[in-house]
Amino acid sequence: MAATKITVKSDGSIRVEGDFTIYDQDGNAFDLAGRTAISLCRCGHSQNKPFCDSSHKRAGFQSEIHARRLDPPAPVPLAPAPPKPPST
Ligand code: FES
Repeated sequence: MAATKITVKSDGSIRVEGDFTIYDQDGNAFDLAGRTAISLCRCGHSQNKPFCDSSHKRAGFQSEIHARRLDPPAPVPLAPAPPKPPST
């Protein structure tokens, strides 16, 4: 399997390249017609969401991105312990 590369562009889209599938919230895959690279909108102005149509340029979208380290994920709370059986 080829690696997937995701690039968050300053003042623009999220570029996805390589081996990937994009799904909607119902689990249906987009037919990308053989594309191995696509840009996703992150400015909210595209008329073809979730894909970028370069509207970010007209909208003057600004968001400078530099890679950084994230804080560790918050711990997942443990499920409550099951009730103890009554003692006899
Ligand atoms: S990022 Fe390009 S149209 Fe939104």
